[in-house]
Amino acid sequence: MATPLPAHIDPTDEACWSGVRDQYVLNDDLINLENGFFGVPSKPVMAAFEDYNRQVNREGTFFMRNRYPQRLAAAVKALAAFSGVSEEELLIVRNPTEAMNILIQGYPFQPGDEVVISNQDYDSVEETLHMTQQRGRLKPVRISLPFHPHSDEEIVALYEQAITPRTRALLVTHLLHRTGQILPVAKIAAMAQSRGIDVLVDAAHSFAHLDYRLPQLGSCFVAAHLHKWLGAPLGVGLLYIRKDRVSDIAPLFGDTTYAASDIRKLGHFGTTPPAPVMAIEDAIAFHNSIGGGNKEARLRYLKERWVSRARNLPGVELMVPEDPQRSCAIAAFRMKGKDAKQVADYLLQAHRIFTVATKVAGVDVVRVTPHLYNTTADLDRLVAALAQLA
Ligand SMILES: Cc1ncc(COP(=O)(O)O)c(C=O)c1O
Repeated sequence: MATPLPAHIDPTDEACWSGVRDQYVLNDDLINLENGFFGVPSKPVMAAFEDYNRQVNREGTFFMRNRYPQRLAAAVKALAAFSGVSEEELLIVRNPTEAMNILIQGYPFQPGDEVVISNQDYDSVEETLHMTQQRGRLKPVRISLPFHPHSDEEIVALYEQAITPRTRALLVTHLLHRTGQILPVAKIAAMAQSRGIDVLVDAAHSFAHLDYRLPQLGSCFVAAHLHKWLGAPLGVGLLYIRKDRVSDIAPLFGDTTYAASDIRKLGHFGTTPPAPVMAIEDAIAFHNSIGGGNKEARLRYLKERWVSRARNLPGVELMVPEDPQRSCAIAAFRMKGKDAKQVADYLLQAHRIFTVATKVAGVDVVRVTPHLYNTTADLDRLVAALAQLA
């Protein structure tokens, strides 16, 4: 970054945030408000990634044999420091689907064990649970989460009420990907722990979006993306398992080399591209140059910018909790009498605003996800476009 940013950046300081915006290559053709799929990396991260890719492909096997082991170890070390856990508790994976498959398929479920899930967890995670159910090892029990909760206790109680003597684990998505709602994971985990039940946390969207360290989630098992909100290049995620629980998880990918207590036993998934892994350190450095707290506050401010105005438009129903603290960058809405796909198409075709139509708990919604490079003017254009439609 040309001028170092101050330790505290006011979320409303447009001059300062426009300096952050300059750190991204922007697509002038449209206003991208669909940054939930993956977050484009910043210029410094892309420059480093491209260098690494060139180096890997220039040096070939020499690089893989002689340099990559140290580079991988350095990435794990940096990620562990950033996440507040030890290197022995972390595995760099390709994405949370992989991490969740390792966890769910490797967890010592017994026939008849129940896993509490919600009606808003991620599809591929649910698929993994259902496949494991078909193999006779567990039974998912689904609860319905409200779009507009009144308190953390209301959410904790929903999970608690679904617990039976057969419950072995809860699957909890920290930040619901389609509506942006943040669940009180630490409180859910404390309740579960008091009953001897594990919580598997899907932190795909919350990691490096909300400003926290992994132990604060209070769970022994967490899966997350690094190419969504941390801003690493596509193809990296993390799996965290608390040290004393590693031996409980059996390897999904064949391994007889490592000790049962060594998390590397779970990472035998073959050759994967090194450059995204090497760029994790650059992504952490860029994230830290902004500051996790500053980033979270700005993302929440951008979401509130459009949500607080759209709330007053006739026919617009917001599918995100009213309390700004219960969501951050992501929010969703629907329009009375209008198909979500038509609304998203209208925004793109008439206004060059890119969002996504999706379905959550049977309800069609449009999801809106600003990134750090979006401006308040981008969000104001969204609101103006919706006002024309309302
Ligand atoms: C909450 C949540 N969990 C898991 C995933 C799975 O991510 P991937 O397909 O990259 O493995 C996603 C993807 O967006 C997600 O939003």
